[in-house]
Amino acid sequence: MKPGLIMEEIFPEIKLIQQKHYQEHIVYIWEELWQESEWEDIFDLPISPKVEYSHVIHNRAVVQNALQISNTFEEFHNSKINRDILLTAGLLQDVSKLVEFRPTDNGKVEYTTIGLTYPHAFWGAQLAIKHGVPHEICEIILDHTPDSARFPKSIEGKILYYADQLDMIAIVGDRFTKESYIRIFK
Ligand SMILES: [Fe+2]
Repeated sequence: MKPGLIMEEIFPEIKLIQQKHYQEHIVYIWEELWQESEWEDIFDLPISPKVEYSHVIHNRAVVQNALQISNTFEEFHNSKINRDILLTAGLLQDVSKLVEFRPTDNGKVEYTTIGLTYPHAFWGAQLAIKHGVPHEICEIILDHTPDSARFPKSIEGKILYYADQLDMIAIVGDRFTKESYIRIFK
């Protein structure tokens, strides 16, 4: 068994969550997948095999971006944002990367069987459901990626979605393209 993770040191944002059981879900799920993963140093976990930038740094930036957007929405538009849902989803949405990627002997990163078999985030979402994480948080985990079948439903999920994509611009540059398409409307 590997040494455990001290999650509150890796993600200090956990301490901003009011509901203790949400904090416990994050710690437990990260630790469970950490023990199953082939990573020796959590800071070596990349954003993806193609983007070898520390996932933890990106994840923290996404959560901090999302908090700033939430503050702005509330200050200017009187929006109601549930910070506990936002933070818990933001800190769990990519936990499956631990077992979706693995380091190779030649210092590269490759997809595992889980990573090759399931859409990104599925593994984290099903684990969160199994551990009793509220469905509204599990839905954000499942729908948080551009590869998901649909956009997140809640305001917390939408903020995280765009905060995530914006942060990727800071790391790898612009990734958005405009395309013509035929839209079915009802
Ligand atoms: Fe992700």
